Amino acid sequence: MTHNKKLSIIGLGKLGSTMAACFIHKGYEVIGVDINQDFVDAVNRGHSPIYEPCVDDLINVNKNLIQATTEIEFAIFHTDVSFIIVPTPSMGSGLFSTKYVESATIEIAKVLSKKEKYHVIVITSTILPGDTERIGKDIEKISGKKIGKDFGLVYNPDFIALGRIVHDFLNPDMILIGESDEKAGSIVQQIHETIVDNEPEIYRMNWYNAELAKVSLNSYCTLKLTFANIIAEICEKMPGGDAEIVLRAIGSDSRIGNKYFRGSLAWGGTCFPRDNRAFAKSVEQFGIRNTYSETTDRINDYHKTDRICNLLIEYLEMKNTNELAILGLAYKEDTPIVEEAVSLSVIKKLTEMGYKITVYDPAAMEEAKKELSQNDLITYAFSEYDCVKNKSVCFIATPWNSFKSLDIEQILKIMDSPIILDAWKILSVPENSKIDIRYIGKNINNK
Ligand SMILES: NC(=O)c1ccc[n+]([C@@H]2O[C@H](COP(=O)([O-])OP(=O)(O)OC[C@H]3O[C@@H](n4cnc5c(N)ncnc54)[C@H](O)[C@@H]3O)[C@@H](O)[C@H]2O)c1
Repeated sequence: MTHNKKLSIIGLGKLGSTMAACFIHKGYEVIGVDINQDFVDAVNRGHSPIYEPCVDDLINVNKNLIQATTEIEFAIFHTDVSFIIVPTPSMGSGLFSTKYVESATIEIAKVLSKKEKYHVIVITSTILPGDTERIGKDIEKISGKKIGKDFGLVYNPDFIALGRIVHDFLNPDMILIGESDEKAGSIVQQIHETIVDNEPEIYRMNWYNAELAKVSLNSYCTLKLTFANIIAEICEKMPGGDAEIVLRAIGSDSRIGNKYFRGSLAWGGTCFPRDNRAFAKSVEQFGIRNTYSETTDRINDYHKTDRICNLLIEYLEMKNTNELAILGLAYKEDTPIVEEAVSLSVIKKLTEMGYKITVYDPAAMEEAKKELSQNDLITYAFSEYDCVKNKSVCFIATPWNSFKSLDIEQILKIMDSPIILDAWKILSVPENSKIDIRYIGKNINNK
């Protein structure tokens, strides 16, 4: 299928490359722009510059539809719609810095001053209430053009999860469009409608409402997950407690729902923690003190470190050892990202206390090494079995597929009468196995 609009993607990182891959997969011609020459070269060779399932294949198969460049001017002149997906890093205040978005929009504005044709600028980077309006005014000033007449400005964030961005982008629950005007919003709506594999709800609104909807939605997810983790901790202490059973019952109430309602480890990663903090901070401009976000953040910090460390220390003392094996460093499966990951918090705290920790992750070893300072108490293993060998306590922190298929009999042979804390109930344990497995959210007496 051919499309009448040509698209540019400014920022070929985790989200931008994946969106570009999806657009070309659906027949759009795309020009990708990045300031990182290596990323540009990778795309021009037909490869993904980032690690995300399916993206490399999609770019490779459709490489005739994509070209990449460091020249924003070329991209703006040769396309009709530009999606900006550059970083918006958190600042000390908790708010997001829009300096990269602004450096892209300033460049775009300079080109718009010379471009006759109508152009739509779409900000996909996560920004906060008031940002699009401010950026829009700057673009008008620099370009000398009028929003709504000469160009459209749309805030159109995605609701995706790392490790499954392709699926989530092509099968969204909803499309959120904060539009400067009807024409710009309709163009963005039409682009989404021509690529999705499902029939999502489309919500069109002004910039402020869209900015608030995006950041508060993620914050609501953290609230729900925090509640589930509180139930999990109660169940660990309560006779016969099992959070899975309790939460399944609560979640079947249609007012609540079962999605994102599993009690386990704390939430982490690149979006939830920072979006939650930014939501709280950004509404201060309206005279609102959002204490619930601050509270979920504080509770999550406790779940991330103290709650899990207390359990692990109890097991290490039971086994009279100071050596722990940790399987899983990434904050979730299918990604190398370790930002705000539970494992890293646990490693930092337990090594400060003098414990020795051997770790293994199928994809996140390098990222973890960068994040954890050089420490003789940390050993990086070559494989799952190498990690757990001769240890008597193991913590499975990330539900990677390769951990699901671990051979329990083999583990029993190479470990020293182990206790395994399986945070995600992923090990398949044969009936009558002698292995001592403990589950997050489940009272041990229930085994
Ligand atoms: N990754 C996610 O799961 C996710 C989910 C939802 C929203 N977001 C949001 O999307 C935005 C991008 O996130 P990401 O994870 O893709 O970031 P990333 O760091 O992986 O990629 C950003 C890319 O932008 C490039 N870049 C920076 N300034 C540029 C400029 N002026 N011109 C061209 N390229 C430039 C960088 O070189 C980098 O390749 C952020 O606002 C983030 O909050 C990300």
